[in-house]
Amino acid sequence: MKVRVTETYEDMSDAALALIMDQIRIKPDAVLGLAAGSTPLLLYKKMGEAARDKTIDFSRIRTFNLDEYIGLAPDNPQSYHYFMKKQLFDALGLPPEHTMMPDGMADDIAAECARYGAMIEAAGGIDLLVLGIGSNTHIGFNEPGPAFVPETHVVELSDATRQANSRFFKSVDDTPRWAVSMGIRDIMFAKNILLLASGAGKTEALWKAVCGDITPMAPASILQLHRNVLVLADKAAAARLQRNESEAD
Ligand code: F6R
Repeated sequence: MKVRVTETYEDMSDAALALIMDQIRIKPDAVLGLAAGSTPLLLYKKMGEAARDKTIDFSRIRTFNLDEYIGLAPDNPQSYHYFMKKQLFDALGLPPEHTMMPDGMADDIAAECARYGAMIEAAGGIDLLVLGIGSNTHIGFNEPGPAFVPETHVVELSDATRQANSRFFKSVDDTPRWAVSMGIRDIMFAKNILLLASGAGKTEALWKAVCGDITPMAPASILQLHRNVLVLADKAAAARLQRNESEAD
């Protein structure tokens, strides 16, 4: 894993934008994997600005989001569909057929998981996957547990994740308990992975991802086995990694 530490959240977002633009310059019809949540917000804003300023042509990219809550319709402001449309897809002018997301409203959710995984494969896999990390080390909604789940699947969200994500809902009780998430194989088959981490709330999780044991109890640790992972972290998130570096000197 390569780790690049930036001074600020904004620098992290600029560096991520530069990498995404490089990917699209190499392959204008690149398949991007995307996370929702707070960490990529500024990156998405900057992508929207790059589209507006015609710095790069996003029109041919296709995107696959990592996850969606079960039971939230796409027009529900708390759904990831809604979030992605408002924060990124509208600004990029991407048609819905270019922006894939798991359908959390599907009647047959097992069939939906299979369909979503097959679509990623049919697209030739993900060229560049942008991941956030949960403070409990989840990636996508792959929560700590006894085993890695390879394929797109239904997840029961942990109390920690519901607590963290309750900031977008009226209360923890109001926060969905179930979600659909890409699995660890879907993630590990991405050709390149960019893991973003910002803020002191991610310091311990990032340390476990980069330096900890590889274990399903810390799902992000599996990324240590991937060939092309770049961790982009601001100083606060990387604080423990840097402490380790200076201890080693
Ligand atoms: C969301 C996702 C999650 C988030 C993680 C961090 O699509 O895949 O793994 O990346 O929960 O969320 P934030 O960025 O809100 O701290």
